[in-house]
Amino acid sequence: MAGLETHFSGLHLNPYEEVRIPIVSAHQLQVLAIIGQGYVGLPLAMAAVDAGWTVIGVDNLPAKVEQIKGGFSPVEDVSNEQLKAAIAKQAYRATTDFSEVAKASVIAICVPTPLDENREPDLFFLRSAARAIAPHIANQTLVVSESTSYPGTLRDTIIPIVHQFKSESTRELFFACAPERVNPGDAIWNQKNTPRLLGAIDEESKVRALSFYESICDEVVSVSTPEVAEAAKLLENTFRLVNIALINEFTQLCSASGISAHEVIDAASSKPYGYMPFRPGVGVGGHCIPVDPLYLTWWARKKGSMAALVESADSINRSMPKYVAKQALSLVDVSIRTPRILLLGVAYKSGIGDTRETPMKILRDYLLSQGAEVAWYDPLVSSWEGSNSVNLDWPCDVAILATRQPGMDLTQLFAGGVKILDCTNTISSYIHTKLL
Ligand SMILES: NC(=O)c1ccc[n+]([C@@H]2O[C@H](COP(=O)([O-])OP(=O)(O)OC[C@H]3O[C@@H](n4cnc5c(N)ncnc54)[C@H](O)[C@@H]3O)[C@@H](O)[C@H]2O)c1
Repeated sequence: MAGLETHFSGLHLNPYEEVRIPIVSAHQLQVLAIIGQGYVGLPLAMAAVDAGWTVIGVDNLPAKVEQIKGGFSPVEDVSNEQLKAAIAKQAYRATTDFSEVAKASVIAICVPTPLDENREPDLFFLRSAARAIAPHIANQTLVVSESTSYPGTLRDTIIPIVHQFKSESTRELFFACAPERVNPGDAIWNQKNTPRLLGAIDEESKVRALSFYESICDEVVSVSTPEVAEAAKLLENTFRLVNIALINEFTQLCSASGISAHEVIDAASSKPYGYMPFRPGVGVGGHCIPVDPLYLTWWARKKGSMAALVESADSINRSMPKYVAKQALSLVDVSIRTPRILLLGVAYKSGIGDTRETPMKILRDYLLSQGAEVAWYDPLVSSWEGSNSVNLDWPCDVAILATRQPGMDLTQLFAGGVKILDCTNTISSYIHTKLL
């Protein structure tokens, strides 16, 4: 890296300023820049370091960059030790300086693609990332988008922005889309062993993108266009949303008839083909499952069509927190005017501290609207919605086991005879449990 610093020491720091860009040099061939150092960008950085790349991690949040520079990983899938080792051997460094992308032969964009206030695609981060890197991209660089979005985003949004703001000396660029499929907190599947989807805009882009991803992934699945890759990613997550909605609706039907949905699911799972088990829960959360299918519904509407099944699935999942709240309140003695409800686990899934889009927010808000006093406990989340985790000795009338976190020891609640609504199907043989 020291040689590279000298080579590019004349670059300006203003991300939007036009700079003189050299062509990709031999030095740059193994240098990767990643825009966005979050759940996708940072694990990708570590996977690339393991594969021999020198990685420049660019993020526009100075506090996050300082945290990473200090060796403290902001995501569970990268340990502090792994991060510190990569920094120590000068194979990775974080920066807020977009001009550093000029040192890379490959730039991977890994920024958020959330929903706006109308629950429609919000490409602000993607556009601003494309805008910020454009003036600094070296000639013959490969730009890959790993962010999830609707078909056409690479071709119709990212590429035009890059071309509009790139340096004149950057005449030839390569583009591909390789949607990330990482499942945070998954002990088995990671960037390396999860097959990578790849759609490039032309043959040369495909060759370069294949070469890059084959250096960090065990298997790369090449598809004919970026739009196919973008659509495939939406299909994968919509598949989950719809099946979760089906089982959430099914659970409500079973519960009303006094049948255990979990026993039914176990029974159906004995069929060796044509069935895949999904489990009910408080709803869906995180940056993907509740969000990406709405990119699909929006895209469908834009094309003059309607994804009615997906819209219905979204609405069923969004009704689950209220259903769970009602189930919990039904366990409270009618003489209690202000029920005290303890939420166990507020992260959207087990094993991570991520509370983005967590359905526990709707659950909590509904309980509060019904006059309940609500506290929460989550060993992986220190603060949430402006409040802190309480201890398990917080006196409550009902506890809702929403997300079973590793290290969550409920012995104290069992000993106190606390009623528990178990939405995780993880408590057995405790008499005061009601299963969702
Ligand atoms: N989290 C997941 O499980 C997951 C899995 C697969 C795909 N994805 C997709 O990957 C993308 C990234 O998601 P994530 O979970 O890593 O998000 P994240 O919020 O964890 O990380 C994104 C990072 O990008 C930074 N950022 C935002 N705008 C920027 C800009 N203009 N320039 C530089 N940095 C910027 C943010 O500060 C943040 O650190 C999204 O499209 C998401 O849908 C996420």
